[in-house]
Amino acid sequence: MNKDYDITKDSNRVKKVEPSLIRMVLNRVDELRKSGHEIIALSAGEPDFNTPADIKEATINAINNNYTHYGSNRGYEKLRKKISEKIFEETEVLYDYQTEILVTSSGAEAINNTILSIIEEGDEAMVFSPAFVNYENMIKISGGVPVIINLRPENQFEIDIREVEKHITERTKMLVINNPNNPTGVVYDREVLEQLCELSVKYNFIIVSDEMYSKLIYGDTVFKSIASFPGMKDRSVIINGFSKTYAMTGWRLGFITASEKRMNGILKIHQYSTTCSPTFIQMGVAEGMDTELTKREVSEMVENFAKRRIHLMKRLDKINGLSYVIPKGAFYIMVNVSKTGLDGMEYAGRLLEEKYVAVIPAVGLGKMCTDYIRISFAASMESIDAALDRMAEFTKQLVNHN
Ligand SMILES: Cc1ncc(COP(=O)(O)O)c(C=O)c1O
Repeated sequence: MNKDYDITKDSNRVKKVEPSLIRMVLNRVDELRKSGHEIIALSAGEPDFNTPADIKEATINAINNNYTHYGSNRGYEKLRKKISEKIFEETEVLYDYQTEILVTSSGAEAINNTILSIIEEGDEAMVFSPAFVNYENMIKISGGVPVIINLRPENQFEIDIREVEKHITERTKMLVINNPNNPTGVVYDREVLEQLCELSVKYNFIIVSDEMYSKLIYGDTVFKSIASFPGMKDRSVIINGFSKTYAMTGWRLGFITASEKRMNGILKIHQYSTTCSPTFIQMGVAEGMDTELTKREVSEMVENFAKRRIHLMKRLDKINGLSYVIPKGAFYIMVNVSKTGLDGMEYAGRLLEEKYVAVIPAVGLGKMCTDYIRISFAASMESIDAALDRMAEFTKQLVNHN
């Protein structure tokens, strides 16, 4: 028996993925904070609001009432019913709560389960760039081949259908879209989505649509779920969750909606990843997600994001050397810093070390985005103002020097 291998060695699967640059920035922020610096963070991908009071109270009650045991693999039935009703209200797509909704422990788990259950060794899955980093890495972990389609800033990071079509091959099994988009803030319009649906039928691939930010939409922008187009419920899997809409990132609760046949496969993977999401969290959310108080708290949060977005754009307009793509959804803005003479990585690095403001170099979300930083406006107006004062000063020094 030859057992002469290094037991500390990672699997090839692990070697295929890289640590996230966002995490590295957040770790550096932690280090600086520990050494006594006050950092203004416009880096986080999470609301700075508290979880709605009724959800918290109902969850505490569920714990006190000892709902602390395993639950259904698919998720707590009352929660699935509520998700089904909410999705129907928002998109007019009816998912059967018994067979077509799966509650997961986060949107991230929903993405993992979906990709693992569909992608096989060598399958190609198209992913736009820039994008949330999990898609590309999960495709790699699943043995698939991520096929990157670059979104161009000069095209406002919108999808160019001809570009998508060019990337389709005999091995294309999946297209991943994120609508509304992190980091670009783009919300795809009906026409683009219709064209994607046509391609999905013509070339026979599934569309995985991450709609995590579907409730964070600004101005007169309209959000359409890909599943609401004729025939698309059976050709798509929708990822969503509670992290962003209910300010619940630490609770780790997400969900998947898909046709029954597709869901059966996803459910198997879910059973062997987390079995079920924490019972008391599901019960608390089911009880508290649609009370009048929760609705009010959520809409106040969204109104706040809308105000901050406008304010942030006004402040950026006044900084010579910076330009941006107007975000229509989510809570991020992509800012071009190339006129400062620095790339996004250098700008973000120096802004953090010299001015103690944290933003994300967008190259961490898309290799082509070297000129960009991602700013999150999920921070208080005071933090945005203080950070923008420092950015204005920092940018002025650079532009004058150029
Ligand atoms: C586009 C997108 N999808 C999914 C997630 C994951 O959300 P969760 O906190 O539920 O894992 C995020 C988190 O930042 C995200 O930006």
